Amino acid sequence: MVMVLTRSVFFGFAALSVTAAVLAGGPERGAGMDDGIVATFRERNGAVFADWPTPQALLVLTGELDGYIEPCGCTGKENQKGGLSRRQNFLRAVRDAGWEAVPVDLGGQVKRFGRQTEQKFQSIVDGLRGMRYAAVGFGPGDLRLPAEELVAAVAPIGDEPTPYLSANVGLLGLDANITPRFRVVEAGGLKIGITAVLGDEEASRVRNDDVEVLPAAEAIAAVAPQLTAAGCDHQVLLAWATPEETKRLAAAFPQFDIVVTAGGADEPPFELPQLPGGGRLVELGHKGMYAVAIGFFPDAARPIRSQRVPLDARWGEADDMIAILATYQQKLETLGLEGLGLVPIRHPSGRRFAGSAACAECHADAFEVWESSGHATALTTLEEAVPRRDGDPECLSCHVVGWAPQRFEPFEGGFMGMDKTPQLAHQGCENCHGPAAAHTAVERGDVRASTAERDRLRSELVLSLDTPADREKVVNNCLECHDLDNSPHFDFDEYWPVVEH
Ligand code: HEC
Ligand code: HEC
Ligand code: HEC
Ligand code: HEC
Repeated sequence: MVMVLTRSVFFGFAALSVTAAVLAGGPERGAGMDDGIVATFRERNGAVFADWPTPQALLVLTGELDGYIEPCGCTGKENQKGGLSRRQNFLRAVRDAGWEAVPVDLGGQVKRFGRQTEQKFQSIVDGLRGMRYAAVGFGPGDLRLPAEELVAAVAPIGDEPTPYLSANVGLLGLDANITPRFRVVEAGGLKIGITAVLGDEEASRVRNDDVEVLPAAEAIAAVAPQLTAAGCDHQVLLAWATPEETKRLAAAFPQFDIVVTAGGADEPPFELPQLPGGGRLVELGHKGMYAVAIGFFPDAARPIRSQRVPLDARWGEADDMIAILATYQQKLETLGLEGLGLVPIRHPSGRRFAGSAACAECHADAFEVWESSGHATALTTLEEAVPRRDGDPECLSCHVVGWAPQRFEPFEGGFMGMDKTPQLAHQGCENCHGPAAAHTAVERGDVRASTAERDRLRSELVLSLDTPADREKVVNNCLECHDLDNSPHFDFDEYWPVVEH
């Protein structure tokens, strides 16, 4: 079976059934792989490796994951690209077909910081090890984590060396460095030399006393002769730098024939642009939605071919990566919202939340509309996700009452778990109208208030679509949650009628 596939039609239009067979026949194939899905996504996002002969080695370049360990599924996971699980299955498909894959990552696994990000970084590194990465660089987000977390995640495990390397970044200082400066990988009879640097501009933004960074050009100058001496067939430079800085480095060191940069466009270009020195510049896009694959061939006329690979649903899910995600979610669950160091922030109004059920007795019509909308089961969505996500602040923030959606932090008196605040489950009334505990108490007669005070509390909750300014305020509130990542097709005129009351 594999023999047939290593021929030129791997994943080409002619190979639909063969492709599906091999994809579905791997050792740890998850759900969702069938001919229909492969065909659908080929149609939508393009076939890959059509008409390629078997490469000697296939360099698979990834990076700039930016924390997107897995697509959230907010618009249906099948409509989103990226995630470690699909990346693993793509690599498996290639390896199962007998191609020699050399996965290499520019770095930039995470963007935020705090306990959750530390746990996530560890899980992502576990994932990269599970995918047998040959080399991984550091991005500035990674280097903002506390050094002890970085070292714990990156350190060699027994005989297994760290996949990390950097010519100019030293954790705990360069002397005590635990990552090599470069690596020569042998694959398909080729020697591929790889080194990585953090660009000077980015380095100046990493404020971490335990991380020492040398000027990039100086560090490459020290490594370059060693790569030359190693007799590499190909040399790869991973530059976490702006495309401008990367191009300057590439011009100064033309020995690198593959130069990977950060900070490019959102999606990688279809073709790799050629650098003045003859090398190829690689952009990866953002959020790990694509891999860029470069095949090396013993063909003087066409020694390399490249392909941007959309990591879409055609690849299906990989059980081992899903297990890593589940472990990550369990760790979040175990730490709990307090253990994750979440300190509730003040709501701009200074008011408290009552929960949607408290409104039902007086606002029956509004309640009925809400109750039959998706907003009223938003937390259930997270509970039923596999693995479940109801302990993940990065999911809860838009799926419960009383959080700052874009900050992934609770407001004072906001949802803090089903045990403590079950009344604040789901995306409820007060995320749009504002906290209404005082209004509820006054209207119910639990608290005495003057008529003026009662009216003031009512008026604070009023929303309206009457004037353009009122409408803009409402729409902006929707967009706090219905943002480009989580609701890319949001259109107020289409969405409002579904929840209108
Ligand atoms: C910034 C706000 C926000 C965050 C953070 C967020 N979501 Fe969502 N989610 C939404 C919105 C808005 C929708 C509805 C999208 C639409 O229909 O256009 C949604 C819908 C969903 C749906 C689809 C529900 C259905 O029934 O169709 C799933 C599943 C989901 N989210 C899971 C998650 C998970 C898992 C996470 C964390 C990784 C997450 N969400 C984080 C805002 C968010
Ligand atoms: C005990 C009855 C009662 C409860 C409980 C109650 N309200 Fe009210 N609410 C009223 C009354 C009465 C008014 C003023 C008359 C009206 O506009 O309906 C009002 C006004 C409002 C308004 C302003 C409507 C407008 O256009 O003037 C909003 C919004 C509102 N309430 C939201 C809520 C929310 C959200 C909750 C639950 C957290 C809630 N109310 C709980 C009785 C109640
Ligand atoms: C605090 C976050 C948040 C805000 C604010 C918000 N939404 Fe949502 N919305 C969600 C989430 C989360 C979902 C997905 C719920 C699910 O199915 O799990 C959703 C789903 C929806 C849906 C699909 C519901 C269905 O029944 O299929 C519509 C329509 C919608 N929102 C409209 C709006 C509109 C219009 C606004 C502004 C007036 C708005 N939303 C404000 C978080 C929010
Ligand atoms: C997705 C945001 C959103 C959610 C959730 C929401 N509302 Fe509203 N609500 C609005 C907007 C926007 C208006 C103004 C509509 C208009 O002017 O036509 C409104 C209007 C109202 C009004 C005034 C109605 C009127 O015409 O006077 C009340 C009362 C109200 N909502 C109560 C509630 C209650 C109670 C809940 C929860 C059961 C709730 N709302 C959930 C956005 C929301």
